[in-house]
Amino acid sequence: MKINGTPYRSVWVDPADGWSVCIFDQTKLPWAVDILRLGNLAETAHAIRSMQVRGAPLIGAVAAYGLCLALRADASTEAMERDAAMLNATRPTAVNLRWALERMLTRLRGTAPGERVAAAYAEAAAICDEDAAQNAAIGRHGLALIQQAIARKPGSRVNVLTHCNAGWLATVDWGTALAPIYMAHDAGIDLHVWVDETRPRNQGAALTAWELGSHGVAHTVIADNAGGHLMQHGKVDLVIVGTDRVTSGGDVANKIGTYLKALAARDNDVPFYVALPSTTIDWTVADGVADIPIEERAAEEVTSITGRAADGAIVTVRIAADGSPGANPAFDVTPARLVTGLITERGTCPASAAGLASLFPEQG
Ligand code: MRU
Repeated sequence: MKINGTPYRSVWVDPADGWSVCIFDQTKLPWAVDILRLGNLAETAHAIRSMQVRGAPLIGAVAAYGLCLALRADASTEAMERDAAMLNATRPTAVNLRWALERMLTRLRGTAPGERVAAAYAEAAAICDEDAAQNAAIGRHGLALIQQAIARKPGSRVNVLTHCNAGWLATVDWGTALAPIYMAHDAGIDLHVWVDETRPRNQGAALTAWELGSHGVAHTVIADNAGGHLMQHGKVDLVIVGTDRVTSGGDVANKIGTYLKALAARDNDVPFYVALPSTTIDWTVADGVADIPIEERAAEEVTSITGRAADGAIVTVRIAADGSPGANPAFDVTPARLVTGLITERGTCPASAAGLASLFPEQG
C-alpha cells in the first residue's frame, strides 16, 4: 500500500545494509510516521510486546525476521531453539506467531549452522511474500461479498463496519478485513466504513482511520458501543473483521468487543464475516472459548487514554476515578454459530469444521 504515493510493506529488510529490519512504529501513528530499525533479537521482542508492531500476520512476519537477527548473533541449534521460544512468548493469542516460528525452525533445523542466516532471511522473505499474496486473494474473495451487498440495494452506498485494525498495518500488505474494502474502493464502488474506535488502545481510531483516510476511503469513527444502534437502523450492510486465531471448528478470537458486534449483527440479520489467511487457523484447537489463550494486558490501558493535545503534544491522561482498578482482557472469542462466513485466500466458507475442510482438505 502507499503512503503519499510511495509503496510500502509493513516490514522490510533495510536495503542499505541488507540485514536490519524496518517497521513502522505503530505506537506513534497516526501522529507521526516513524520508521524503526530493528537490529537484534531484544529489539524485535520489545517491538512485538510493546505493540510497535501488532496484528496477527505482521507479528508472525516480524518474529520470523527476529529469528534471522538472533541467528546473526548465534546460529547454534541451542541458541536458535531458545531464541525462537523467547519470541513465541511475546504475545499469546495470535497463532501466526507460533506458525511463523515453527515454519522457520522446520526449515532451519535441517540446515548447517553456517548456512542458517542466509536460509532464515530467505524463509522470512517467503513468509512475507506469501502473506501479501494471501491477503490480496482475500481481498478478491471479499470484494465479491461487497458486490452481493450492492446487489441487495442497487444504487445505494454500501456501509461496512469493522473493528480494530485488520488493514495493511496488521499484515505484510493489503490487510485482511480491509483488503476487500480497498479493492471495492479501487473498483469505484460507493462504500463507507464505520470504524469502531476499539478501546482500550484505539487501533480503529488511530490506525484503521489513518489507513482508510490515506487511501481515500470514506469512513467514520464511532464509539465501540454504537454498532448495535447503527445496525438496528439499517446503517450497516455487512461487518468484516480480522482475527488472531480461528479454531478448526470456526470459532474466532479477535480484539475485545468483536463478540458483541457479532451478537448485534445476528440480532439484526447483518452478515458478519471474518477475513483471515490460513496461517491464522489453529488446527490443533476446536473449542475457542475453552482453549484459545486470551492476552491480559495492563489495566492502565483501560484506566487511561493517549492522544494528541491541542498544542500537538502526545499525552496520556487518566480517565477512571482515582483508585479504581481496571481489567484488560485484550481479545474475545466469537462462537462459529455467529459467523456468516470465513473469507480466506482460497475463498469463503461457512465457519465450521466442514466449511474449513472444504477449503483445506489437506488438513485432514
Ligand atoms: O492487539 P492487536 O492490535 O495485535 O490486535 C489485532 C487484532 O485483533 C486484529 O483484528 C487481528 O490481528 C487481525 S489482523 C489482520
